[in-house]
Amino acid sequence: TGYTALDQGFVNTAATKSAITYIDGDQGILRYRGYGIEDIAANSTYLEVAWLLIYGNLPSPSELEAFEERVRRHTLLHEDLRRFFDALPHNAHPMSVLSSAVSALSTFYEDSLSVHDPEQVELSTIRLLAKLPVIAAYAHKKSLGQAFLYPDNSLSFTDNFLKLNFGNMAEPYEVNPVVSRALERLLILHEDHEQNASTSTVRLVGSTEANMFASISAGINALYGPLHGGANEAVLKMLGEIKASGESVEKFVERVKNKEDGIRLMGFGHRVYKNFDPRAKLVKESADEVLKALGVQDDLLDIAKELEAVALADDYFIERKLYPNVDFYTGVIYKAMGFPPRMFTVLFAIGRLPGWIAHWREMNEDKATKIGRPQQLYTGAPARDWPAR
Ligand code: CMC
Repeated sequence: TGYTALDQGFVNTAATKSAITYIDGDQGILRYRGYGIEDIAANSTYLEVAWLLIYGNLPSPSELEAFEERVRRHTLLHEDLRRFFDALPHNAHPMSVLSSAVSALSTFYEDSLSVHDPEQVELSTIRLLAKLPVIAAYAHKKSLGQAFLYPDNSLSFTDNFLKLNFGNMAEPYEVNPVVSRALERLLILHEDHEQNASTSTVRLVGSTEANMFASISAGINALYGPLHGGANEAVLKMLGEIKASGESVEKFVERVKNKEDGIRLMGFGHRVYKNFDPRAKLVKESADEVLKALGVQDDLLDIAKELEAVALADDYFIERKLYPNVDFYTGVIYKAMGFPPRMFTVLFAIGRLPGWIAHWREMNEDKATKIGRPQQLYTGAPARDWPAR
């Protein structure tokens, strides 16, 4: 065969064309369908942004209302799927629970598995948007040993999600509007990020004509790793360890620079952003606002700010263009809202779901799509004669 260029980690190779999200990593620009992330975060809702990503333009008020209503009608899980959670160990990581349950959706919804039928694709889209938050909340409840609540469709998307996570059957639950708006804003900031590892996974799996549930379950597994979505949980662990050890921030940064035991400053660095991550800027603002509004004082936020200041003034980080990414401050906010660290990446997955769906559909609708099948450069043994025995 002819010459194949090696591009480990796809640093230089575009695997697809896409019209969904634009990033300029040098200037810290992120746009969904042409709209700046700052405007979107200030003015929109999770489901409106989902519509924008999936269908390409902002919905009219009546289109949005109909879309929200359709999502609401699909929030219930099949009772057998509720029981599916019983089969998993109570201390299972909620990300594994999430991907397993999403994979199981294929078994419940065989009427929406065709990738060639637009109506079925639409039905899978709605089912995923409606059910993933419920599955996520059940993964949380399961880890606490608490009863699952049914969705309350009189509430907004985010309020419903908060109630499913923090409500119980014994008492009424009051949603805190500050928490609800802050969570919605964080979800919006995560909704898409072009060809990141999990989205590329969704596209690769989808390119085999696997159904949307199977493709997105694979994306959730890709997101789980600490170099991708799992970084938000890893950041909080890192901050907690610094606090518990009493080690100074300078000392910790020194160990990172010396690559001691391969440690990295979690929540720092990005393949594409080499100046700043616009999402991180918005999240940092939220961290201060939310903790103040909730009356929470958290030493971990102070440690995070100190770490950021020390790293940004250090040549190691300057030379390598390493800046805080979206995951650096989110954990502190999720913690203040009451989520345990093991739920942080699950929240990222809910945020990213509309992006995964939009990319799966774009790939599926593109006549030029071919099955994803990377080349390799073979480095093994040359042809050998089978030994005589
Ligand atoms: N701490 C210390 N050194 C780092 C870090 C870090 N967080 N990130 C990169 N480096 C160093 C790396 O050691 C290498 O140094 P050298 O040239 O001496 O070998 C240099 O910077 C380039 O790193 P790289 O691994 O080639 O960069 P990449 O573009 O392949 O990796 C990354 C990007 C995000 C995986 C990486 O920066 C990282 O591991 N960050 C920590 C994990 C993290 O926060 N991930 C979340 C990413 S943003 C949201 C998301 O996608 O989920």
